[in-house]
Amino acid sequence: MKRLRHDGLVVVGAGLAGLTAALAAAPAKALVLTGAPLNQGCSSAWAQGGLAAALAADDTPDLHAADTVDAGAGLVDAAMALLLAQEGPAAVRALADLGAPFDRTADGGFAQSLEAAHSRARVARVKGDQAGREIMQAVTVAAMSARHVEVRTSAKLRALLQDPNGRIRGVVAEIAGELVEITARAVVLATGGVGGLYSVTTTPAELVGDGLGLAALSGAVIGDPEFVQFHPTAIDIGRDPAPLATEALRGEGAVLVGADGERFMSRYHEKAELAPRDVVARAIHAERLAGRGAFLDARVAVGEHFPEEFPGVFAACLGGGIDPRVQPIPIAPACHYHMGGIVTDADGRTSLAGLYAAGECASTGVHGANRLASNSLLEAAVFGARAGRAAAAEADPGTAPLRPSVPPELPAEVLQRLRKLMSRHAGVVRDAGGLTALLLEIEAMEAGHGRSAPLVAARLVVSGALARTESRGGHFRSDATPQVRPQRTFVRLADVDASASVLAGALRFAAE
Ligand code: SIN
Repeated sequence: MKRLRHDGLVVVGAGLAGLTAALAAAPAKALVLTGAPLNQGCSSAWAQGGLAAALAADDTPDLHAADTVDAGAGLVDAAMALLLAQEGPAAVRALADLGAPFDRTADGGFAQSLEAAHSRARVARVKGDQAGREIMQAVTVAAMSARHVEVRTSAKLRALLQDPNGRIRGVVAEIAGELVEITARAVVLATGGVGGLYSVTTTPAELVGDGLGLAALSGAVIGDPEFVQFHPTAIDIGRDPAPLATEALRGEGAVLVGADGERFMSRYHEKAELAPRDVVARAIHAERLAGRGAFLDARVAVGEHFPEEFPGVFAACLGGGIDPRVQPIPIAPACHYHMGGIVTDADGRTSLAGLYAAGECASTGVHGANRLASNSLLEAAVFGARAGRAAAAEADPGTAPLRPSVPPELPAEVLQRLRKLMSRHAGVVRDAGGLTALLLEIEAMEAGHGRSAPLVAARLVVSGALARTESRGGHFRSDATPQVRPQRTFVRLADVDASASVLAGALRFAAE
């Protein structure tokens, strides 16, 4: 295997968390590795809403933190949520300084949208629904022109390099079809979420939990893997991934209707269309299952203004043959965000020396069981910078014997089967029977194709969902026990394997 020594950080992932970490590492060098071309293959560039931050005169970080805690269904780490909210306004201003063209009010302030479960209009947006694209454009230009940052595209993460003491020393990347061992002072994982493990997702399909799976294989502590957020309003026009119809549309007054044109949300929650995201997702799931259909009707609330106010949603709808100015938009819930991930402290440190994580692949504790809308880009910016600074301060660990072990890749057809099963059994509504059957399928896939990172990531989600017998936040069990676990989940893969073998033993016993 070819060997490279980088005398700074390796950052894996070029979304907002990864590039922010790389920029913040200065003057230390940062080598950014990404499997996809820049601004493709990362959810950040697809984000429509914006960044939640207490920038308005009637808002405070305390209020923002309180909304974050409320949304998280009892599992948010309140100190981390407060830190996020306190650093939010500066993070938005820093992105504006890099050139992100946030929408402005007449007096030059930030124009802010209302999204579900926020007590204030506090989402700083860009050109309506173009936040992710425009912010990533500005951050990418900054990273490409920073002398301390080097970006390698078409470089896919294949393994973490660990020394005999368990310290992470670098990565194995596949670059132009060749495996390359890259050692570095520290590694920052910013590899995004697990949307690509689901057949209906709003995230790039390549996000299959590689960072999460590889960190777990190296022994890192994983937090809250069962908590997956399903966005209620993915546009149902047969595209994979499914385009998103931003929640800001409902903030503007768009309503949810069945095929008969009747609004249905008041049957599910007093806040109707602005109910928490998980409630709206389940309502839409139920309406669709009952054969009544679900549509987002923005004809009155947005109508003729669609092209200027929500250009991204407008273009996606037209591409699917829907004109949202005059037609309701067909919608379905879709996997959108993973609240769980690699457990970190406030500076991105994981439980493994030398390994940092930021963005969706990390579990900082700010999201609990249900992420508040538009806290994800904010988390990527705030904790990406903190992780980059902390990782850059790591002392050079010197050399050590390394014996890289590269997990196999998951064959494409097996991944497609896994995606269908994940949407069916680990989706909006879950139960013990479906989750157990799915876990056995994952075991069979591992037996047949080896222990790949996506299978490990899927196993973590499914085992967590099976173990949490209650419903909470984004995790809903149709066979739920009363709510009894107001604690976060912290696991290592070894614990998950041990409980799986107990389960397999019990199932064998029951079958005999
Ligand atoms: C949206 O615009 O609806 C998505 C925002 C988010 O997921 O935070």
